[in-house]
Amino acid sequence: MKAIILSGGKGTRLRPLTYSGAKQLVPIANKPILFYCIENIIQAGIKEVGMIIAPETGQEIKSTVGDGSAWGIKIHYICQDVPGGLAHAIRTAREFLADSSFVMYLGDNLIGAGIGKFVDEFNRNRPEALILLKEVDNPKQFGVADVSDSGKVMRLIEKPEVPPSNLALVGIYIFSPRIHDAIEVIKPSKRGELEITDAIQELINMGCNVESFILDMWWLDTGKKDDLLTANAIVLDEWLKGDISGTVDSESRLLGRVAVGRNSIITGSTIRGPVVIGENTVVENSFIGPHTSIGSNVRIIKSSVEHSVIMNESELRDIERLEESLVGRRVKIVENRKTHRALRLMLGDDSVVEV
Ligand code: DAU
Repeated sequence: MKAIILSGGKGTRLRPLTYSGAKQLVPIANKPILFYCIENIIQAGIKEVGMIIAPETGQEIKSTVGDGSAWGIKIHYICQDVPGGLAHAIRTAREFLADSSFVMYLGDNLIGAGIGKFVDEFNRNRPEALILLKEVDNPKQFGVADVSDSGKVMRLIEKPEVPPSNLALVGIYIFSPRIHDAIEVIKPSKRGELEITDAIQELINMGCNVESFILDMWWLDTGKKDDLLTANAIVLDEWLKGDISGTVDSESRLLGRVAVGRNSIITGSTIRGPVVIGENTVVENSFIGPHTSIGSNVRIIKSSVEHSVIMNESELRDIERLEESLVGRRVKIVENRKTHRALRLMLGDDSVVEV
């Protein structure tokens, strides 16, 4: 069994962060989303991984992920020249996949446990496709499955106007090589993409066995800000281990699970976990509230922040209360009382500021 991870695409819903970086590298609990995908694939016993990258962000992914030796596997990079859809990505990886069965894992999807049992199930039953479904409140935003009472997948539709159910297709699929035949038959969708949902529908039309499982663990598509903050909160809640490698002075109070990275200095502050703080970060006379991830080389001075992700090299100074925020790299948020109170902003395209 091989695997491909999809790390191409445009990431339009996470702009402006994705103007300067790949969405799959946005950190959740200070670790790129993509690393959770890689680790999940390895845990399922898969050692040959193809990473689909886009020309624009591929280099950043390559230099962050490397050749896979950090995890003891080999990662092959496959450049998809245009974001032509998930089925187009499989077509681009055709040579790498050869005649192997494979897992396709979307590089922005995060699930609450391993995929090993689904890989085992696929190997035991040998369907042409194994798909995972999850009940959601907003099925219009996903691929949706119409499943019979006996659990048989009748129909799959990508982002339907009128969803036949609330069962969304999770972005983790297992395929036999028959999927390549189906991809040759389908046509681009309304959004101009070769949809994997249509290719799986084509397998059903061809009379192939498509197995489905309803996930009993959490699943998050981290494509948007609020989903990302939710993912950050859940991962901190469930997986963070308290660990203090930096320095915390006697004036500071750490409550609950808190991780402070090497060379970070916490003075005169209260940190209420779960909170993770990276390396070389300074937190001074501040409050850091639950479900917050603060990157490396960050400065938080006389500020209060909670339920947020603050990425590397950013600075918060004299900010009374920052909540539910996603702050990119090298961002400065400072109060300026020197002149009359006014907002002075320099924001990238598509920024959102609530005041
Ligand atoms: O997250 C689950 C959903 O993922 C499914 O329910 C949908 O059926 C499926 O089509 C997909 O929908 P999205 O619209 O959310 O897919 P998105 O365009 O965000 O792409 C998913 C990942 O694949 C993302 O990491 C970018 C990457 N990608 C995307 C495209 C279109 C590629 O590598 N190449 C591509 O051509």
